[in-house]
Amino acid sequence: MKILRYKTVRSTNDICKKLSKRTHEDFWVIADSQTNGYGKYGRPFVSPNGNIYMSYHFNCKMNNFNIDLLSIITGITILYSIKQILGIEIQLKWINDLMYRDKKVGGILIEADYNKNVTIGIGINLFKPKETDSHIGGLCDVLNRDAKNSIIENIISNVPINIFNRQINWITEYKKFNYLKNKYVQLRLGTKEISGKVVGFGPKGEIQLIHNNRKFSFNSGEVIKTYFD
Ligand code: BTN
Repeated sequence: MKILRYKTVRSTNDICKKLSKRTHEDFWVIADSQTNGYGKYGRPFVSPNGNIYMSYHFNCKMNNFNIDLLSIITGITILYSIKQILGIEIQLKWINDLMYRDKKVGGILIEADYNKNVTIGIGINLFKPKETDSHIGGLCDVLNRDAKNSIIENIISNVPINIFNRQINWITEYKKFNYLKNKYVQLRLGTKEISGKVVGFGPKGEIQLIHNNRKFSFNSGEVIKTYFD
């Protein structure tokens, strides 16, 4: 597998998208820091030295590839890697925020074009960047370079395999690590908002809510608030 390593880049996702025009092979881009890292809705992803920034690029033109669960599978793969290497269990907040001790410690950004070129961007805070606010956290207090490299290697080995592995019931697995279990949430859907109790996830990873005694299912949107009853 081709792996391109950089010291500082604007964004590993941007590099992937640029390079994908020149190659049909899949590859990884990894950087020590990013100057313009971004997340969902184009929000900045603060990316100083020490944390993990990596993007995987591949083409999923084959007929039977199902892109729906990509985000969930990537989240679970990261969770397994962190558990194996650091011995701690993170949770997944729908759809792909990495949570530890009620703080966001990373995220996944998937971008795809009409040619089915897919870039999976992964950002993991080993430590909390100074410039971030109180809902952001980190996994360790002390930077351990060996652990960082082991997590990266583990993710590189497993993401490309797992995204094609449909033997595992990924939704069942996702539910085990669901940060929103038994929580009430407020979900933003474009300009609208809806609140309700999270009761499960559909076969494509859709979030299922009970609102006014009725069950609703959403395949996109953003959880903007979580609270107990
Ligand atoms: C999110 O939380 O909204 C997703 C954050 C994704 C950040 C990663 S870091 C590596 C890759 N490069 C980027 O610019 N973004 C992703």
